[in-house]
Amino acid sequence: MKIPLKNAAELDAMRVSCRMTASVLGQVAAAIQPGVTTGELDALARRLIAGMNAKPSFLGYRGYPGAMCISINDEVIHGIPGRRVVLPGDVVSLDVGVYYNGFHGDCATTVTAGVTDPDVIRLVETTRRALDAAVAAVRPGCRLSDVSHTIEGVVQAGGCSVVRDFVGHGVGRHLHEDPQIPNYGTPGHGPVLKPGMTLAIEPMVNLGRPDVAVQDDGWTVVTRDGKPSAHFEHTVAVLEESVEVLTLA
Ligand code: MF3
Ligand code: CO
Repeated sequence: MKIPLKNAAELDAMRVSCRMTASVLGQVAAAIQPGVTTGELDALARRLIAGMNAKPSFLGYRGYPGAMCISINDEVIHGIPGRRVVLPGDVVSLDVGVYYNGFHGDCATTVTAGVTDPDVIRLVETTRRALDAAVAAVRPGCRLSDVSHTIEGVVQAGGCSVVRDFVGHGVGRHLHEDPQIPNYGTPGHGPVLKPGMTLAIEPMVNLGRPDVAVQDDGWTVVTRDGKPSAHFEHTVAVLEESVEVLTLA
């Protein structure tokens, strides 16, 4: 496993693409309201990305047809934007990547406008806290599975379950680089984190059972038990003595 390290200039370029990514994600999240279609949200993302002279990282990746992944309720990740209408009480996960100046940014969030079910709110807040705790656990010299274990611990404490079939990843000149970053694991394993690594950490968390399936469209990942799922993602950089969250608007 060869993990690409970014030098200072490359980290600066990552800062730019990642800030763009976060900006798009924030603007699309702000546009969510009952009645909007996922296709309209995707079109907004495409306009925003084109307006920055950047490219959507996901569009055409292994044939993926959207600029964003928009995954609602029991959809975990990789929901394809289209005619689906956002309804009051929907749990909407938004995931976007932006490619600019040779580097990708990748981030995701889950929006709960109008959600009142306390279990669903617990799901989303647990997933958000799992990502925050994971970021806080990143430091040079620690092992990758320390980060994975941190995520699993927060999710278990929240009474939710970690999706095991999909993982976070390194990100940079390519959308997916080494290492793979599972959202579970025992501490003290895997590569030692080093300055210059840029990682997309992305807990995918289910309210019910961890089992998922891919739908007939070949992309959309859903929970097998039909219960809701949440997803948060940041691209972060390991620095000499700390971690920097790159996907902040
Ligand atoms: N954030 C997701 C990932 O890193 C989105 C990928 S969607 C794809 O894997 F279409 F690009 F595959
Ligand atoms: Co990702």
